[in-house]
Amino acid sequence: MDRFNGIPAIGFGTYPLTGVEAERCVAAALEIGIRHVDTAQMYGNEKPIGRGIVASGVPRGEVFLVTKVDPSNLGATRFADSVKRSVDDLGTVPDLLLIHWPPSDGDIDGPVERLLREGERGMARSLGVSNFSPRQMRRAQDLAGGSLICNQVEFHPLLDQSKLLVAARELNMVLTAYSPLARGRCMEEQVVKDIAARHGRPASEVVLRWIIQQGVAAIPMTRKRENAASNLRAADFALSTEEMAAISALSSRNLRLINPSWMTQGWD
Ligand SMILES: NC(=O)c1ccc[n+]([C@@H]2O[C@H](COP(=O)([O-])OP(=O)(O)OC[C@H]3O[C@@H](n4cnc5c(N)ncnc54)[C@H](OP(=O)(O)O)[C@@H]3O)[C@@H](O)[C@H]2O)c1
Repeated sequence: MDRFNGIPAIGFGTYPLTGVEAERCVAAALEIGIRHVDTAQMYGNEKPIGRGIVASGVPRGEVFLVTKVDPSNLGATRFADSVKRSVDDLGTVPDLLLIHWPPSDGDIDGPVERLLREGERGMARSLGVSNFSPRQMRRAQDLAGGSLICNQVEFHPLLDQSKLLVAARELNMVLTAYSPLARGRCMEEQVVKDIAARHGRPASEVVLRWIIQQGVAAIPMTRKRENAASNLRAADFALSTEEMAAISALSSRNLRLINPSWMTQGWD
C-alpha cells in the first residue's frame, strides 16, 4: 500500500458509526487489511474505535490512527484536556492529531500553537489540520516550521479542490479525502460507470483510484465488510491519463456536501 507522508493511501472513515457497530466495523476493516483509521472527538466514538483496534488482533504499531480536536476545544483552557481525554478513550496515542475545523473567529495562531505543544508533549506522533483553506494552510505550516503533514478536506470528483492540492504540494503536506465517494453520488456518474465497466471493477474503486493516483489519501466509510475489501482494491490498478482527465471534468458539478455555518471565513 502506498503511503503519503506516512499516511496509508486507503483508510477507514468512522463517522457516524458509534458503540458496538463502530467497534465491529473497525475490527472488520483491519482484519481485511486496512491499516488507517479516522476518528474525531466530534464523532463520540473514540472508545469503541480503540476497542475495535484491540479486538482486530492487528498489532498497534501497524495501524495509522487519526483523531481530531473538536471546534469547542480549541481554546487555551480546553485544548490539552481534550487531547488527554482522546488518548485515554482511544487507549493509545494517535499517529496523527488534527484541528478538525479552523476556529470561527479566523484566528488560527492560538489553536495551531496549542496543537504543536501537544506534539512536543508526546500526545501525537504527527500533526495536521482539517478543513483549512489554502491561505490558512500556509499560515499554519509557517507557524509549525513545516512540520504539519496533512490537511483533511472534502475531496471527490464532483468538487474542484485543485487549489488545495497545489498548496499542499508546495507546503510538503498531503491531502486526505473525506467523503471520497461523495456518499455514493460519484458512482451515479455515467463517465465513472463506463470507466468501471472497462476495468471490470465497481464504480467506487474507480473513484478511490482517481483520488489516490493524485497522491491524496482516502477514508471511505462503510458498514459492509465486502465494501471495505473492495475499497482496499483501489490500490491494485491504474487509470490512464485520459481516464483521469475525464473524471476530473466532473468537478463542474460543484457539489460541496459539507459546508457548516461556522465556516464563516470561506474556502478561498
Ligand atoms: N474532517 C471532516 O470534517 C470530515 C467530514 C466528513 C467526513 N469525514 C470522515 O470521512 C469519512 C468518510 O466520509 P463520508 O462517510 O461522509 O462519505 P463516503 O465515504 O464518501 O460515503 C460513505 C457511503 O459510501 C458507501 N460506500 C462505501 N464504500 C462503498 C463501496 N465500496 N461500494 C458502495 N458503497 C460504498 C457507504 O455505504 P455502505 O455502508 O452501504 O457501504 C456509505 O453510505 C467519515 O466517515 C469521516 O471519518 C471527515
